Amino acid sequence: MATIFIPKETTAGERRVAATPDTVKKLVKDGHAVSVQLGAGLGAFYPDQEYIDAGATIEPEAAKGWGTADIVAQFNVPSEDAVRQMKEGATVISFIWAFDNLRLVETLAARKISAFAMDAVPRTTRAQKDDALTSQASLAGYKAVLLAAANLPKILPMQMTAAGTLRPAKIVIIGAGVAGLQAIATAKRLGAIVEVSDVRPEVKEQVQSLGAVYIEVKTDENLSAVGGYAKEQSEDFKKKQAEVLREHLIAADAIITTALIPYRPAPKLIAAEIVQNMRPGSVIVDLAAERGGNCELTESGKTVVKNGVTIIGELALANTLPVHASEQYAKNVQNVLSDATKKGVFAWDLKDDIVGGGKTKDGQAFPGGLITHAGEVLHPKVREAMKLPPLVPKEEPKPAEAPKAPEPAKA
Ligand code: NAI
Repeated sequence: MATIFIPKETTAGERRVAATPDTVKKLVKDGHAVSVQLGAGLGAFYPDQEYIDAGATIEPEAAKGWGTADIVAQFNVPSEDAVRQMKEGATVISFIWAFDNLRLVETLAARKISAFAMDAVPRTTRAQKDDALTSQASLAGYKAVLLAAANLPKILPMQMTAAGTLRPAKIVIIGAGVAGLQAIATAKRLGAIVEVSDVRPEVKEQVQSLGAVYIEVKTDENLSAVGGYAKEQSEDFKKKQAEVLREHLIAADAIITTALIPYRPAPKLIAAEIVQNMRPGSVIVDLAAERGGNCELTESGKTVVKNGVTIIGELALANTLPVHASEQYAKNVQNVLSDATKKGVFAWDLKDDIVGGGKTKDGQAFPGGLITHAGEVLHPKVREAMKLPPLVPKEEPKPAEAPKAPEPAKA
């Protein structure tokens, strides 16, 4: 049995929580003791009493929770102070964003904390149930369309009235990954005409199956990387894409951008010049704002108006939907914990590729979600960033040799 602590998030404005009464029930059933910090669920409308009814205890003091638990699960990157309070050998499960927080990773390893990063879950079929990037991005894609609709000075669907026909709004969506696909589906449901651009050729069919128009940029370049992500494109491709996109962007009533490339700043796809040429009253929702934005004029965390165009760079849109965002995140966390619990005993299994990494069918290695464990940094790219030498895989103990049969006696 492990003791699991769910802290109240300390990041300003955070409303999500890493466990819901439903996931607490499951964790208790798995054999764990769960304690939830007083008021931890209030931002997502889960009162303390519901956690108690689900089998948890309420912990009034954060420091005591962090200091006594075997496992702490939260949403945001833990502070170094909180990690220093943890027991040696304990586990933290949360977003870690290791590349942006190398000092924290160092502290986690030094304190022998096992840190499972919810942002580093491999993109395999089996890991879909654990994938918090997906669960949160999908909600953000939905909310982006609602924000666009609420800020537009017109409606989205076509409407035929006695006073004339209102033409449907045109929404361009750049990036048809998790957030983009949800944005397409939402915009279509609201009656907009939707056009979509991406660099990965495989998304064309998905876009068309949602009833949207795919804006094609012809190229022979391979633009997909391992795990379904995009690669950095050549200058030649970027130029071609900009030329093709220009007329679609200028004619759009709203643009929703979600284009990201792992570990790189967001590609700039909407130049200031485009915004200058858009119709005043148009709206851009830039979901890449956290990584610098896809539009040159986006201000991260703010809504600004340039040339009459509203540019929304608000961050963490999923946090504005804390009930469903917590429900999904808590389920992702509980799945990770339940997979690591066998007969009531919690232990990380480094052979599980979601935990310790593995290989794709075509032999490409991918890292797992466990960033630090037993005093080591496990993630190869994070080790590289920390200038640590590659980890030498421990040799498997050889099976004991079978005793040799006695030689037959010579005649
Ligand atoms: P992401 O957030 O890194 O990128 C969003 C989108 O932006 C991607 O579709 C990418 O191709 C696109 N993009 C990048 N640069 C662009 C540019 N210059 N112009 C236009 N578009 C650009 O990726 P996300 O949304 O997290 O996932 C991407 C894909 O990963 C999914 O569509 C899916 O195929 C795969 N995936 C697989 C999962 C699994 O198997 N467990 C789970 C989640 C995603």
